[in-house]
Amino acid sequence: MEQPTNRVFSGVQPTGNLHLGNYLGAIRHFVGLQETHECIYCVVDMHAITVWQDPAELARNTREVAAAYIAAGVNPDTQIIFNQSKVSAHAELTWVLNCVARIGWLNRMTQFKEKAGKNRENASVGLYSYPILMAADILAYRATHVPVGDDQKQHLELARDVAQKFNNDFGDNGGADFFPLPEPLIMGPATRVMSLRDGTKKMSKSDPSAMSRITLTDTPDDIAKKIRKAKTDPEPLPSELEGLKDRPEADNLVGIYASLAGISKEDVLKEHGGAAFSAFKPALAELANEKLSPITTEMARLMDDPAHIDAVLKNGAERASAIATPVLAEVKKIVGFI
Ligand code: AMP
Ligand code: TRP
Repeated sequence: MEQPTNRVFSGVQPTGNLHLGNYLGAIRHFVGLQETHECIYCVVDMHAITVWQDPAELARNTREVAAAYIAAGVNPDTQIIFNQSKVSAHAELTWVLNCVARIGWLNRMTQFKEKAGKNRENASVGLYSYPILMAADILAYRATHVPVGDDQKQHLELARDVAQKFNNDFGDNGGADFFPLPEPLIMGPATRVMSLRDGTKKMSKSDPSAMSRITLTDTPDDIAKKIRKAKTDPEPLPSELEGLKDRPEADNLVGIYASLAGISKEDVLKEHGGAAFSAFKPALAELANEKLSPITTEMARLMDDPAHIDAVLKNGAERASAIATPVLAEVKKIVGFI
């Protein structure tokens, strides 16, 4: 079976409130990679249900993530866009990998600890096994590169460990080197966008405060207001990177600016060093609107035609399935299933 060398896989959960962190940490990089790689971008609805989702909202949010991929610039004709639950290889491979991975590995996952909180006994079994489903997503396509935000680093290390253990365990039955060890691609100056209300907390879909995040459905006025009200300290911006140390809110806004402008944080400080936030924030709001409003507008247009999005997802699922089905068949053979 031919081994791909430049296959990208990534996913975003359809859990609503798609935000600037999702865009700058992940989706934006999906676009550039299609120039050089064969890309598979998934809407991971099976991951979403590891915590409760209202069924009608889940369907809408699934279309919204697909719309975001397309609006951001992913070409659904040359690349693959689909939703996870349409390709049964993800669930089937998860079972095999559940039996390869060790409980001790999952017990170290910080995202589970954060999401399950104090009441761990009451978290879903799916939430616990979540990283194995993620490993299956990637390995079902024998993907080589995985663009994600910084928070997914630990899950990717686990995916590599699972791949390596599968290859070792079944080395004598055709498993040696079967799965490539997927490389994380954690790119750009905004790999971890922080909350606008608290520079020590990640920007997240589930933060109760809508002011903590800029979403891909915000209007220019919403964006300007959220940036104006973003928490900052009283000092002007420094001229050197050093000066951002211990200033998490300033660091975050500079990182966002850099990422949106496609320049480095150093270059932002060269231009804006010495500026007060009262001057920097309007410049950031203008830049954010310039970059985001074409995407927001296109997403809204796409969301007006759900049948078109559904057709894109169906076509993508067929092409995804054509890649994953033979991989799964080979896995079954390697494991000894007849
Ligand atoms: P999720 O919303 O958890 O499905 O995340 C989708 C993608 O966005 C993943 O690649 C995450 O790593 C990335 N991501 C989520 N939140 C942030 C953030 N605050 N900063 C940067 N990337 C993020
Ligand atoms: N767990 C990822 C997140 O929450 C989403 C995801 C699921 C994913 N499967 C993936 C990302 C496979 C990359 C590759 O952000």
